Amino acid sequence: MFNFEFHNPTRIVFGRDRIKELNRLLPDGAKVLVLYGGGSVKQFGTLDKVRQALGSRAVIEFGGIEPNPRFPTLMRAVEVVRGEQIDFLLAVGGGSVMDGTKFIALASRFEGKAEDILLGRVKPAQLVSAVPLGTVVTLPATGSEMNSGGVISHQSGKYVFFHPLVFPQFSILDPTLTFTLPPTQVANGVIDTFIHTVEQYVTLPAEGRFQDRTAEGILRTLIEIGAATLDNPTDYDARANLMWCATNALNGLIGAGVPQDWTTHMIGHELTALFGLDHAKTLALVQPAVWKVRREQKRAKLLQFAERVWDLREGSEEERIDAAIAKTETFFERLGVATRLGAYGVGAERIDDVLNALEAHGLTALGEKREITLAESRKILEAAL
Ligand code: NZQ
Ligand code: ZN
Repeated sequence: MFNFEFHNPTRIVFGRDRIKELNRLLPDGAKVLVLYGGGSVKQFGTLDKVRQALGSRAVIEFGGIEPNPRFPTLMRAVEVVRGEQIDFLLAVGGGSVMDGTKFIALASRFEGKAEDILLGRVKPAQLVSAVPLGTVVTLPATGSEMNSGGVISHQSGKYVFFHPLVFPQFSILDPTLTFTLPPTQVANGVIDTFIHTVEQYVTLPAEGRFQDRTAEGILRTLIEIGAATLDNPTDYDARANLMWCATNALNGLIGAGVPQDWTTHMIGHELTALFGLDHAKTLALVQPAVWKVRREQKRAKLLQFAERVWDLREGSEEERIDAAIAKTETFFERLGVATRLGAYGVGAERIDDVLNALEAHGLTALGEKREITLAESRKILEAAL
C-alpha cells in the first residue's frame, strides 16, 4: 500500500426528513444563498422545505445552474455573492449544482481571473479563502457531497478542479428526495458510482486489502440494488444504499493508498463536451473499451473483479475476463444505458475530434502508469464504437 494522507471534514446527515435540521447545521445569522438547478427542486417541494427550515435567516435564491454547469452562469452567481455579501452557500441538487456551488465559493473570494482556477493557472496556495458551503443532495451519483472536487464546463471543454476549502461543511442525504428522479437519472447514478469504484480498483495490485474489499462491497451492492431501485422508485432501502454507495465511492476512502486510473472519466468528459451525452452515459461506453484494450496491464485486477464481484471462477483466464466485461455491459444495458458510441449516432469519423480535444486539454498520458497516449485512446474509442 502506498503512503497516504486522508482528511475528510464533511458531516453527513443521513435519513428521512433531515432537511428540518438545517437550522442546527447553519451558522446563526448567516446570510444564505440557496443554489439550485433547472427547477426540479421547486416542482417537487424541496425548495419549500429548505426555505422553511432556514427560519428567519436572510435568504436569497439563485436558480438555473444547468447540468454540466457552465462558467458564465456561475459567474452570475459570483456577482450575487459579492453584491449581497453572502456568507453561506447552500447547494440543493445533484452533482452539477454542488460542483457549481463549489466553484462559486472559490471564485467569489478570488481576486484574480476566475477562469484561471479552471485552466490550472492558479496554484492551490493562491486560493486562501472560500465561502463556506453545505449541500442537500437530490441525485446520488457524483460523490460531490463529500469531496473537494468539481467539474465545470467552459468554452468547449470540461475542467476539473480540487481544493480543500470546498469540502462541504455538511451534506444532507435524504433518500426520499431521490424518489422523483426520472429512471434515466437513477441509472446514471448507479453507473457513475460503479465507474468511480472500478477506476480506483481495477488497476494494479497494491495490497490495499481494505480498499479492495470495500470497493467490492460497493460494486456488489450496486449489482444487487440496481434493477430494484429503477423498477421501484419508492423502495427506500434501495435508494438509501445507492446514496451511501455513491458518497463512499468518491470521498477518498477507497482510493487512499492505491493506484487510480481515471482514463474513462477523462475521455468521457470530452464525449460530453462534444456530443452532449450525460456524464454517466459516456462512462458506460468507455469503461468496457478501456478493459478490452488494457486487459494485459490490468489482468490481475480484472481476474479479481471477475471472481469477487461477478463470482466467475470457472474457465480460463481469458474466458473469465471476457465474461466479467460482458456481465458489466449487460448490467449497464439492463439499466437502459447503451455501451456503444453508435447508439448515440457517433461514428468512427468523430474519433479524431475526441483525440484533438484530449490533446488540447493536455490529456495525453492517462492511466495508472500514465501510459495511455493518444494512440492508446484511439484504440479505446475504436473499441467503444
Ligand atoms: O436541474 P434540475 O431541474 O434540478 O434537474 C436535474 C438535472 O436535469 C435532475 N434532477 C436532480 N435531482 C432530481 C432531478 N430530477 C428529479 N428529481 C430529483 N430529485 O437531474 C438532472 C441531472 O442533474 P446533474 O446534477 O447534472 O446530474 P449528476 O448528479 O449526475 O451530476 C453530473 C455532473 O457532475 C460532474 C459531471 O461531470 C457532471 O458535470 N461530476 C462531478 C464529480 C465530483 N464533483 O466529484 C465527479 C463525477 O465523476 C462527475 O464528473
Ligand atoms: Zn463520474
